[in-house]
Amino acid sequence: MQTATVETVRVELGARSYDVRIGAGLLARAGAEIAPLLPRPRVAVLTDATAAAHHWDALAAGLEAAGIAADRLDLPPGEGTKGWAGLAQAVEWLLERRVERRDVVVALGGGVTGDLAGFAAAILRRGVRFVQIPTTMLAQVDSSVGGKTGINTAQGKNLVGAFHQPALVLADIAVLDTLPARDFLAGYGEVVKYGLLGDAAFFEWLEANGPALAAGARGPRQAAVHRSVQMKAEIVARDETETGDRALLNLGHTFCHALEAATGYSERLLHGEGVAIGCALAFDLSARMGLCAQETPGRVRAHLRTMGMKADLADIPGDLPDADGLMALMAQDKKVQAGRMRYILARGIGQAFVCADAPADAVHALLTEALAARR
Ligand code: GLY
Repeated sequence: MQTATVETVRVELGARSYDVRIGAGLLARAGAEIAPLLPRPRVAVLTDATAAAHHWDALAAGLEAAGIAADRLDLPPGEGTKGWAGLAQAVEWLLERRVERRDVVVALGGGVTGDLAGFAAAILRRGVRFVQIPTTMLAQVDSSVGGKTGINTAQGKNLVGAFHQPALVLADIAVLDTLPARDFLAGYGEVVKYGLLGDAAFFEWLEANGPALAAGARGPRQAAVHRSVQMKAEIVARDETETGDRALLNLGHTFCHALEAATGYSERLLHGEGVAIGCALAFDLSARMGLCAQETPGRVRAHLRTMGMKADLADIPGDLPDADGLMALMAQDKKVQAGRMRYILARGIGQAFVCADAPADAVHALLTEALAARR
């Protein structure tokens, strides 16, 4: 039997450095991967019912093979779990299980589970270690790496949380086989983002290999996750708490967050779909401001379209607010500083930068035209 390749990306953060392991079959060897972290052979696993249904048996067997006992809590799937009630449930359960300061919490699931479990681990007994086992494309290439943990409140998404780095990330690319195509492609939106923000050659590679990757080819899929994680690791190592470069990871997100709020964080628009549309709009704005070539937004959209992804406001079903309404939602963005909007714009593919002085009238005109194209 051929052994699947496992690659390692190190996130260099001094005493809090950790490995992201990427490859097919990591669930089956999770016990061997996690064992060196454990003072005693037991873990508490926070997961959601969907991830558990698909992946629990493989993970439990992998842990058992190394003699590790595992308890699990199934949280309800969906963004609604990532709030105060879900956090209380997770923390109470961990305390009931007598998880100690040196024990390890495992997060098995997508971004919601990882963010919630990471925050629960951050505040449990003033901080216990946790391992991320991301089961969605989005979580493998973005949310499981970098230590942003937290919950949503009535005031908005991710407004309460902590930077708490995992001790290990196991990205088993084989688990992505179980994802519905729409979720897979939404996660791919974050992969495209990496090419757009900092690596033109990677974007070009995605243009050539994206369709095979989406069709399930393991080699391109692993290469895409690996390069995305490498880029994230480099940026997080430079700027862990987002005082500078880490904001580049938010390319497309100012538009995306407004669109998610406008669509009620519903099935009308998945986060990764909003990121893809947001990236296209960020390139539109950059072109309008004369920062990048006029044809560049078209190239971005052409790739999204080839992949069967949403690329325009016209692709979002149902009503949207007008340009004033969208701009009001954008003003809630966490990148706002002293009341000034900051956008991630680009001088070309792979050349993103933080811009603090994008003219509001250019943004307004862009949104007005994009909304008019919906009719
Ligand atoms: N998802 C953006 C970041 O981790 O900074």
